[in-house]
Amino acid sequence: MWAGCVGLGVWGWPLRLGPMATSYITTPIYYVNDRPHIGHCYSTALADTMARFERLRGREVFFLTGTDEHADKVIAKARENGMSEQAWVDACAAQFQDAFAMLGIGHDVFYRTSDEHHKRLAQRYIAELMAKGDVYLGDYVGWYDASQDEYLTETVAKDAGYKSPVTGVALEKRTEKNYFFRLSKYQGALEKHLAERPGFVLPAERRNEVLGRLRQGLLDVPVSRALRAGESVWGVLMPGDSAHRVYVWIEALCNYLTAVDMPGRIKFWPATTHVMAKDILWFHAVIWPAMLLALGRELPGAVYAHAYWVRDGKKMSKSLGNFVDLDVIRAYVGRFGADALRYYLVTQGPSGSTDSDFSHSKFIETYNAELANGIGNATSRVGNMIDKYFGGVVPAHNGLRLEAGTPGAETDFATAALAARESVLAALERRDVAAATQQGIALVRLVDGYINATEPFKLAKRVEAEPALRARLGTILYHCAELLRIASVVLSPAMPVKMAQLWQTWNCAPPAAFTATTAATAAMAASAGLEELMVFGGAHALVPGTGLTKGEVLFMRADPAEGAPG
Ligand code: MSP
Repeated sequence: MWAGCVGLGVWGWPLRLGPMATSYITTPIYYVNDRPHIGHCYSTALADTMARFERLRGREVFFLTGTDEHADKVIAKARENGMSEQAWVDACAAQFQDAFAMLGIGHDVFYRTSDEHHKRLAQRYIAELMAKGDVYLGDYVGWYDASQDEYLTETVAKDAGYKSPVTGVALEKRTEKNYFFRLSKYQGALEKHLAERPGFVLPAERRNEVLGRLRQGLLDVPVSRALRAGESVWGVLMPGDSAHRVYVWIEALCNYLTAVDMPGRIKFWPATTHVMAKDILWFHAVIWPAMLLALGRELPGAVYAHAYWVRDGKKMSKSLGNFVDLDVIRAYVGRFGADALRYYLVTQGPSGSTDSDFSHSKFIETYNAELANGIGNATSRVGNMIDKYFGGVVPAHNGLRLEAGTPGAETDFATAALAARESVLAALERRDVAAATQQGIALVRLVDGYINATEPFKLAKRVEAEPALRARLGTILYHCAELLRIASVVLSPAMPVKMAQLWQTWNCAPPAAFTATTAATAAMAASAGLEELMVFGGAHALVPGTGLTKGEVLFMRADPAEGAPG
């Protein structure tokens, strides 16, 4: 049981004083021109883990993911499949929702740009920009990348040999009457913001890229597309001009704000972190912040752009058709469980600036080393020993110290836990969810080393002859279990189901509010959080005398020779 605090509210937690800190995490909203794949699942799992860490910190979190439904390529797909746009996007959005449910994603909202609220507000923002003179009518001649629904500048198009830098599809030269956003006006303000807030674009390598491109100078960008004769209006019309549709990228970016621009939710703005891959960083690090500046809204805390999952050195994407698709993902989840896949994605994925190859052998290696032989083995070993030597009751810990001169006496888990806590918090500041999660495994390793040094199984054999040793044995096992509890807290955002299973058998679940996945439930959480939960022997420590069952093995070892599932 988690030791209680005094002076508590109905839920057993300190009554909150003052408003609770909020946190708003977003993923990109995905195009519904095809089925979800590992890239989408990765960004979403990473953001989900980040959101769960935020909840653990006692923050009221709003976590948004969803779909971007008005792109030309979505319309083309609907036609190809002989379906209306709406029917097509409904079917595709459902596939994304199913995929995310399979991965245990706990978003607060699955937001879709065909939502009327979004369309109305996006149009209102554009009207505001027009009224300010920041959106104006002009002529546009440019290189259009139809595969990405994006115009490229002359320089970028030329460097890419007039082919899409992403898919290699030939670019088209197009001239259009267009509305433009006065991006150039915000160059100075953006440069200033990036200089003052080094953590605005993360990781640092990506920030340098943005700064470099920014120095080349900003041109105004088109924000509309003229409707072709007879074309159905699928999207958002320009305010006061039904001959133009708002360019899908501009409208899509607005989703982050439209989703919370309503009573009860606006407190979540500005977003704490926009998560995405490097392909769409420019939109998030430059165009969107400039739009927000023009709208007089606050800028997000950070724009975090991870690298790509690749296969054989090539980016995986729908256009290239070389991705780890939904069937593969389903097979891994079926064979190893969603948490094991989440852990692999989060810790081995391209969270920094380098791409990661998705490889089955790497998956098995990580699974065995860190899960089966790591947290899984350590918890079952310690659980078994407590069961066997102490009748399944958390032993007394002798003031949390071993007597001087005994093996392990020099180990100071309280300090180690505090150091781990500092590392986790620092990693979270950098939005480095992988590093934060890995601190959990580092604690497991400490326990492994401690067991090797103190050899409780040998000590147990001597207890009958020397009853005085029982206290030492209890202290050792208490140390192990308590540090593993802390490790499980750190690992829980990546592996919520498995860690909840452990808490159930160890009878030590943190209050539901800490692990809740909706803002409404999380609102019950106290301001106390991760910081307190990670104190060794602190207010939430395992309580001597509490029953603890061994439980099932969390992760069965896998045969390294086993082939990829599916
Ligand atoms: N609809 C736009 C985003 C609008 S956000 C206002 C879009 N959609 S997308 O379906 O193409 O998704 C792109 C995102 O999917 C990437 O930024 C990344 O989050 C994820 N990934 C797609 N392929 C990926 C990899 N191969 N590796 C990692 N993530 C990738 O762009």
